[in-house]
Amino acid sequence: MPEKKVRVCIVGMGIGRPNGQAISRNPRGEIVALCDLLEDRMKSFAQGLPGDPKLYTDYKKMCKDPNIDAVFVGTPNQWHVPIALEAVKNGKHVMVTKPLADSEKAAEQLVEAAEDAGVVNMMSLSTRFGDPCRYLGERAREGYFGELYYARARSVRRNGIPAWNLGFIKKGGGAFRDMGVHALDAVWWILGMPKPVAVLAAAGAKFGPRGLGYWDRTKPPREVYEQYAADDYAGGFIRFENGIGLQIESFWASHQPGEFQIELFGTEAGGQLSPLRIYRTDDGVEKNIEVNLPKGKEAWDHIAGHFIECILDGKECSAPLRHGLVVQRMMEAVLKSAELGKEVRLG
Ligand SMILES: NC(=O)c1ccc[n+]([C@@H]2O[C@H](COP(=O)([O-])OP(=O)(O)OC[C@H]3O[C@@H](n4cnc5c(N)ncnc54)[C@H](O)[C@@H]3O)[C@@H](O)[C@H]2O)c1
Repeated sequence: MPEKKVRVCIVGMGIGRPNGQAISRNPRGEIVALCDLLEDRMKSFAQGLPGDPKLYTDYKKMCKDPNIDAVFVGTPNQWHVPIALEAVKNGKHVMVTKPLADSEKAAEQLVEAAEDAGVVNMMSLSTRFGDPCRYLGERAREGYFGELYYARARSVRRNGIPAWNLGFIKKGGGAFRDMGVHALDAVWWILGMPKPVAVLAAAGAKFGPRGLGYWDRTKPPREVYEQYAADDYAGGFIRFENGIGLQIESFWASHQPGEFQIELFGTEAGGQLSPLRIYRTDDGVEKNIEVNLPKGKEAWDHIAGHFIECILDGKECSAPLRHGLVVQRMMEAVLKSAELGKEVRLG
């Protein structure tokens, strides 16, 4: 008997590609359908896939297809929830790219529906599932750092505003939901997913609305950047229930060198993501330890493999949409605090 495979539809031909390729590389995964508004994008992706995936331009029709077990949602943020909702209502397992949603309310609605439907529901998180982040998370879980009491995490770009779809720069998009989400989810997970209690932040848009700071320094037409309605930077401080402090920042454009960094402060050791390093003091000697991980699987393969084992083997999902919801709450509180000019309490 051939081994059972999960039959997946990929929605959105941007980030859907690496996610779809990894599912297709997995011996227990199969891409049976693609869905996008743009047929040419689907056709070009389909060429590199085994089999002959069905092409859909209407996600509602796709969700009715009985030959699809699971749906990956990789559209602009504003479409994550409508499409994933339709999928879970039709009994499909669902995986959603980051961020979970364009608002807290939409995120809550989806998590409730997915949990009620009893389907596997998972976030695709390429930072959290990457080997360096997993290394730090595993060391944290085994107590290597002692008590982790403080962290800093940031994504800084010099000229990196994406505008290849308008979802990035319209309401529900923005730097914090795009890249802040990676830094925030990863550091929150490493810290052991503590309960957030308060947020104080600042945010704004200093480059995007002027047509500056765009990806590869390519200036978009005026009619594009005139629609700018999101943040291009946000930074703040999150305090957790057990007193842990987190400084978190995301800049799509700035006059600073680009970096993606997580720094951990523990009672027994400290750690940093890029380059992966441990700091400790042993018998009075300060040590900076470079960690050179062997080349392992890509994050996309870890993500696809886990999604498939949750569906076929009933394994407990380590990155359920509910995690995406907590991260969404923190993100929305960052943006809300900036708007109100005061601390926002959570919980
Ligand atoms: N590392 C990561 O995990 C990562 C990296 C990049 C982007 N993303 C996320 O992926 C999402 C898309 O970003 P992108 O860069 O791939 O954008 P993109 O513009 O390259 O791709 C989005 C695709 O969605 C399609 N689409 C839009 N509305 C649709 C609808 N209603 N039904 C079906 N298809 C629809 C578009 O035609 C387009 O082909 C964003 O939410 C972004 O945050 C995640």
